[in-house]
Amino acid sequence: MIIALDGPAAAGKGTLARSIAKDMDLAYLDTGSLYRATGVAVLQAGKDPADPTAAEAAARGLDPLAIDPVAIRTEAAGLAASKVSAIPAVRAALLDLQRTFARTPPGGKKGAVLDGRDIGTVVCPDAQVKIFVTASLEERSKRRVLELRAKGETVIEARVFADMAARDAADSNRAASPLKPADDAFVLDTTALDAAGALAAAKAFIESRLK
Ligand code: DC
Repeated sequence: MIIALDGPAAAGKGTLARSIAKDMDLAYLDTGSLYRATGVAVLQAGKDPADPTAAEAAARGLDPLAIDPVAIRTEAAGLAASKVSAIPAVRAALLDLQRTFARTPPGGKKGAVLDGRDIGTVVCPDAQVKIFVTASLEERSKRRVLELRAKGETVIEARVFADMAARDAADSNRAASPLKPADDAFVLDTTALDAAGALAAAKAFIESRLK
């Protein structure tokens, strides 16, 4: 059982993926963390995340069990992730890791939930359940501002909005695995939903697919 959740930043897919995994006792993989960790590794090596050779080496050397959860959550890590994720050799290097997780979930779980940008289209095109989680740019930007303020960061709202619009454009317009809903994905718009509402809508869809 594979559940694929894709969508733009701050649409609520991470929270939703974690809730579904907990609810259904499935393993969970945040694939964005792999791209973020690759970006951070390139920066730590003093290289440019847009440099294909440095980025591929970082992706190939990635140890998913050694990812620093704090270091990958900064805005700089997000920006570096966006750059490395546009490089086809980086995507190829991370593909096996993601597919292995989906097909043989750790901890003896009977399935896996993966969230990212291309899970339903490229990583697991055979997933039984595909959900494309989205929300308006205004709402996602508002959520990111609250998230950053909760971490004690000083933020300029217009800057967060502009960065998110730029990230959306980069993720959607890149040639390698662009962000787009799979043909058979259920599009879940969370603009007017809280976490519980999004989980209820997702569960109703999952149940309809598993019948
Ligand atoms: O979801 P996130 O913000 O942690 O993702 C960080 C970056 O990684 C984002 O710019 C898109 C990219 N990414 C990707 O290209 N493919 C994935 N499966 C997951 C993330």
